[in-house]
Amino acid sequence: MSFPKNFLWGGATAANQFEGAWDEDGKGASVPDHVRGGTLTRPRQWDKEIQAGVYYPSHEAVDFYHHYKEDIAIYGEMGFKCFRLSINWARIYPNGEDDEPNKKGLEFYHNVFAECRKNGIEPLVTISHYELPWALSVKYNGWTGRGVIDAYVKYATTLFKEYKDEVRYWLTFNEINTGALFYGRIMSLGMQVRDGQTMYENNETPIQINDRFTALHNQFVASAKAVMTGHEINPDFQIGCMIAFVQVYPYTCNPVEIQMVQQIKQINNWFCSDVQILGKYPGYMNRYFHEHNIHFRTEPEDAEILQKGTVDFYSFSYYMSNVFALHPDKETVSGNMSRGMKNPYLKISDWGWQIDPVGLRITLNEIYDRYRIPVMVVENGLGADDERSEDGKFHDTYRISYLRDHIKAMKEAVEDGVDLMGYTMWGCTDLVSASTGEMKKRYGFVYVDKDNDGNGDLHRERKDSFYWYKKVIASNGEALD
Ligand code: BG6
Repeated sequence: MSFPKNFLWGGATAANQFEGAWDEDGKGASVPDHVRGGTLTRPRQWDKEIQAGVYYPSHEAVDFYHHYKEDIAIYGEMGFKCFRLSINWARIYPNGEDDEPNKKGLEFYHNVFAECRKNGIEPLVTISHYELPWALSVKYNGWTGRGVIDAYVKYATTLFKEYKDEVRYWLTFNEINTGALFYGRIMSLGMQVRDGQTMYENNETPIQINDRFTALHNQFVASAKAVMTGHEINPDFQIGCMIAFVQVYPYTCNPVEIQMVQQIKQINNWFCSDVQILGKYPGYMNRYFHEHNIHFRTEPEDAEILQKGTVDFYSFSYYMSNVFALHPDKETVSGNMSRGMKNPYLKISDWGWQIDPVGLRITLNEIYDRYRIPVMVVENGLGADDERSEDGKFHDTYRISYLRDHIKAMKEAVEDGVDLMGYTMWGCTDLVSASTGEMKKRYGFVYVDKDNDGNGDLHRERKDSFYWYKKVIASNGEALD
């Protein structure tokens, strides 16, 4: 057994990290346009007012807006079957809920999809990838206000109608489960925080926690409504959820520790997809809310909406695993999502993420066993500081080896019986890092000439991994060496 014939091989991006042109052709500001660049040790900071002379990485990003033809042609050359991108909400509705959509914004994505078709590539669109229009963030305190549900449904409906014959695969929200955790406040839920607050500052009051769960609930309702509307507009649409899945292991075989880890996994990994696939809040979360005195706002009609608007497939990002212990007295590591113990069996990336391909096989099996619906890996990859070799090229063997091991793990999972639809490697062209705002943390098969301070002429170059992935796709995942 091997990868299915129509397997969706490709790459993934997000508008705020890739497109640039943040205020061109009528686009409004989005939340990430207010977030400064940082590094692993200097966290990104949020500014209520965009400051003159400060560098905001999303403003130019790597300028896909003006390079899309070249970029998509390169994907065509690599043999991509699928290209995951997000649509920037504020490019379509500059203030999030304007009366009419911005024609130039709509036209841009028509052009992008036309290029995809020309190159035999199926687009996979994330409707909202950490990109709430700034005006909505201010007016409703991000997703806390119920008005954002209507604005989102209007925006999604516009996309579904406009691109009905150009796009078949959709994701309602990127990594919706980050909203269940404190660090989802800014990027995922677009909530207003203290001026100058940094991205991973954990200073929520009980009221703010309640608001955060209200905001997440509103996203669930918005997602469910969009799924229903999408299916009415085109019954062929395949609409998925998207979860940041960080695999978690217990440090010992102590059952109390195993139960603790099970609960961490329920809250971090399973909660949101249980709602989006099974159509209601799981019992373990109702208990958690009760025991933690968390109260969020719902409306009587919401239960039926959640029940009816369940998604067609499960998609997720997978980069790492973590270890948790009852008595965490060991060395710790941290990714942008989580902090856990050092796993002595695993290596870590330069940014501290524990590399665990076997964990991907475990994860795929767990997901499929739970839901029995098609699954897609829509993000996976290695962030590394690529250096040009003496021969002038980028020999990113470490990236090839990371990807090879993860693709092998997917193959094992397919042999285990998992219905796997596809794989879009994260950041196929170098782009801005979401967690640190750096350019230096590169994922791409394609290098972009730009540094952390914004210097560079943005030209593109093929790395060794480009040629390797081309062969992987041509052989449908057989030629991995
Ligand atoms: C995921 C996000 O969390 O991980 C992406 O969906 C992000 O937006 C990716 O870029 C990799 O994380 P980072 O922080 O290395 O860019």
